[in-house]
Amino acid sequence: MPPRNRYSRTAIGLHWLLALLIAGAFGMGLYVAGLPISPWRLRLMNWHKWAGVTILALSLLRLAWRLRHAPPPLPEPVLRAMPPWQQRLHQGTMAALYLLFFAVPLLGWAYSSAMGFPVVWMGMLPLPDFVAPDEAFAKSVLLPLHRGGAYLLAALVVVHVAGVLKHRWIDHANLLVRMWPGKEGV
Ligand code: HEM
Ligand code: HEM
Repeated sequence: MPPRNRYSRTAIGLHWLLALLIAGAFGMGLYVAGLPISPWRLRLMNWHKWAGVTILALSLLRLAWRLRHAPPPLPEPVLRAMPPWQQRLHQGTMAALYLLFFAVPLLGWAYSSAMGFPVVWMGMLPLPDFVAPDEAFAKSVLLPLHRGGAYLLAALVVVHVAGVLKHRWIDHANLLVRMWPGKEGV
């Protein structure tokens, strides 16, 4: 049987669900950070945390799936159009994205714990605090790391989408059909 030339339904479902959640959590984080203390800020902050913990859980699922299901090989014309530096950029971007899918939510959770605010997922499931309360450490180390990680994640998503568009418009290979529900693609 020839190798699959598209992602599985599970990988496609997780990709788009996580893309929406990550974009939403990023936007909400930026918005909440600028709000004065109020019940509205508190409520949005909780939604941000719940979305972030959901991203963490779904990322575990995505990683487990990815380890058991190799992604479809890049089409030959795409590989030929990619000089070695672009292939390294592609692999590096993917590895860094996967790392940040875990690091960013874990740092947010650690920050919350260190600030003395336990995380209760969806208001129902209390999560353990894995960092002792320490406000100075939270503010000077964990928040800048959470913020920096989130900005890096957003920058890598821009590189990722630019790569997909480059293949589409310059190499004339539409990779999007491999990541879209439907019939066999490229
Ligand atoms: C991939 C998931 C996440 C993304 C993309 C994300 C993104 C962000 C961003 C962009 C900010 C604003 C930083 C700033 O400019 O000051 C922020 C703040 C914050 N995030 Fe997250 N976050 C995620 C997950 C989480 C999780 C899981 C938690 C906790 C359970 C969390 C807790 C917080 C807290 C407490 C703040 C600080 C808000 C403030 O007091 O200024 N985040 N996040
Ligand atoms: C927060 C936003 C996004 C994140 C975090 C993200 C992440 C990823 C990851 C990790 C993969 C590798 C496949 C996997 O392991 O599941 C992937 C593949 C892919 N993504 Fe995204 N993505 C995002 C947004 C987008 C957008 C907006 C597009 C549309 C232009 C897109 C198009 C694709 C395509 C076409 C592939 C398959 C590439 C191939 O053919 O191998 N992604 N994405």
